[in-house]
Amino acid sequence: MSDSLPFFSDEAFDSFYPMKVRKLSSTHWTPIGVAIKAVIFLVKNHRTRVLDLGSGAGKFCVVAAMNTDAHITGVEQRAGLVFLSRKLALHYKVENVSFIHSDIKEINFRQFDSFYFFNSFEENLNLKDKIDADNNFNPVKYLEYFDFLKQKLDEANVGTRVVTYYGDSDIIPESYIRVKSVNNGKLLFWEKKH
Ligand SMILES: C[S@@+](CC[C@H](N)C(=O)[O-])C[C@H]1O[C@@H](n2cnc3c(N)ncnc32)[C@H](O)[C@@H]1O
Repeated sequence: MSDSLPFFSDEAFDSFYPMKVRKLSSTHWTPIGVAIKAVIFLVKNHRTRVLDLGSGAGKFCVVAAMNTDAHITGVEQRAGLVFLSRKLALHYKVENVSFIHSDIKEINFRQFDSFYFFNSFEENLNLKDKIDADNNFNPVKYLEYFDFLKQKLDEANVGTRVVTYYGDSDIIPESYIRVKSVNNGKLLFWEKKH
């Protein structure tokens, strides 16, 4: 957590990013107000380990880390975005955050207590708002990752918390209950009950 919490508008925060990445913000990166609501739910105490599944340009992770004493980790497949995320954390002097350059499938989910998921697999279906030229229409891959994540969340410990922002809430297994729905149903809070 930063010593003094600066107040940011999304525009001011995003001004760190190069123009190409800034332009993606309203569609692909979590707004500050959403990140703050999510981290308040995801963190039970300072030992809680939070993972952002597909951390993009690091916006959720850095804003979340500014608002908690817990450690926030992001996993992201695009090397350039991981590099930028690390620069973002240095720029804002946020130390309780780290970024892994990897595929979500390579992660040991047991190392984390709660998860943030902003519709990361949608890029395999929606080519209207592409992040970059690596976006390809691949519904088979979408379903493969959807099933993978659903199973990992089902295997997690009772008490695991998840926040989803946009996307298909069927990715959350029946072992979870929906605790809260805000932002017109776009931001959902879940907890594993059995
Ligand atoms: C909608 S963006 C969200 C970014 C970030 N969580 C935020 O809210 O600011 C989704 C990100 O997930 C990443 N992603 C998609 N599939 C992934 C995978 N299999 N492994 C790692 N990252 C992935 C994409 O590269 C993209 O940067």
